[in-house]
Amino acid sequence: MEFNRRNFLSKLSSLAGTFTAGAILTPALASNLEKAFEKIAHLPAEASITDETFWYQIKMAYTVSATHLNLNNGGVSPAPKVVQDVVERYNQISNEMPSHYMWRLVDNGKKIVREKLAQLAGCSPESIAINRNSSEALETVIFGLRLKAGDEVILTKQDYPNMINAWKQRAHRDGIVLKWLDFQFPIDDKQEIIRTFKNAFTPKTKIVHLTHMINWCGQLMPAKEIIAEAHSRGIEVVLDAAHTFGQFDFKIPDLDCDYLGTSLHKWLCAPFGTGMLYVKKEKIKNLYPLFAAPDPEEDDIRKFEHLGTRSSAIEQAIAQAVDFHLMIGAERKQKRLYYLKNYWVERVKDLPRIKFFTPMSENLSGAICLCSIEGFKAKELARHLDNKYRIHTVGIEWENLHGIRVTPNVYTVTDDLDRLVLAIKEIITELEQKG
Ligand SMILES: Cc1ncc(COP(=O)(O)O)c(C=O)c1O
Repeated sequence: MEFNRRNFLSKLSSLAGTFTAGAILTPALASNLEKAFEKIAHLPAEASITDETFWYQIKMAYTVSATHLNLNNGGVSPAPKVVQDVVERYNQISNEMPSHYMWRLVDNGKKIVREKLAQLAGCSPESIAINRNSSEALETVIFGLRLKAGDEVILTKQDYPNMINAWKQRAHRDGIVLKWLDFQFPIDDKQEIIRTFKNAFTPKTKIVHLTHMINWCGQLMPAKEIIAEAHSRGIEVVLDAAHTFGQFDFKIPDLDCDYLGTSLHKWLCAPFGTGMLYVKKEKIKNLYPLFAAPDPEEDDIRKFEHLGTRSSAIEQAIAQAVDFHLMIGAERKQKRLYYLKNYWVERVKDLPRIKFFTPMSENLSGAICLCSIEGFKAKELARHLDNKYRIHTVGIEWENLHGIRVTPNVYTVTDDLDRLVLAIKEIITELEQKG
């Protein structure tokens, strides 16, 4: 989305129009943000990604700690204040008389939330179900697919534990066969990944479970190509897009996956406990819902939303998160996140003892990066960074991946990353001195 002043003001006023001005950015903040946008408006996304004044204004739209540096946005991301405020306001309104205000009034916005998500995803709203997270979205698919004993599912040892456990439970219950791929990341040649999947396909393969971006190390998998190979053999693909929807500027139909699950509280910065399931329209009928619907074989995407009572306030505020995301611009955000990863990596990559598990090229990586420092166990290093430097990362010890995972977000500025660079340099110098 290109910036122009009218567009910006209407975006802000559409946010304001949801409730009162008190629920949105303060006038001073809105004015600063507007000025910052005006400065970068004429620039291509590439040029604006290095404008720290602009990104500092984005940071001010969040309520993050100014002393404890959060570099674990891969786990879960904070929401901008505008999103937090709307959750609170809807919640207060709901509490006036929940069955009336929450179910009859607040819930009325659900159609628009679905439409906004569909627009972002580039698909029909009739393919979008709103739920609580990637786990729920993907487990709906994993437990809803019609598979029988002997059918093969291909997945990797580097997939997400909840999804691995769900597939193992299905294998235990129904006798389906799990075929595990095991990758040594980083992999710079995407053909190697595609080949590994192709070589695993057999006539019994019915499903590929594919993690679009490996959460442990940030390796982006060539989803489009793997999906095309699978489809040419009649195999369906379940895409775990927990780390790509909202981080990367793509449209779901371009990938052509059959099923996709994502968490909106990660890269979209929507409220905690928001997620999305995408099912290709023609696949809805045959996929059983996880929470029973009146007709399990109906082809209405809403059959996946029979969850019972949940907070409509949280669900509705997804709309503000989408607006905030569009205000920054999906392409600008993707490029900034890639820039931030490279910013700190460039400054430490030639130091002794440091090793990376993340590919560095723009078509294979984004914000997430995993590195180890010889002389420190992963979790110890994460603890040390937290205790001594007040820098929050996460220690990863999973299969063949060991290190600290560093994940900035749009509210991270380069000054923050300079803090990380200094800390890493000091840690390595101390280790070298000890010998
Ligand atoms: C690749 C991947 N899939 C699924 C999930 C599950 O996400 P949630 O906890 O929001 O359900 C995560 C969470 O980090 C993840 O990284």
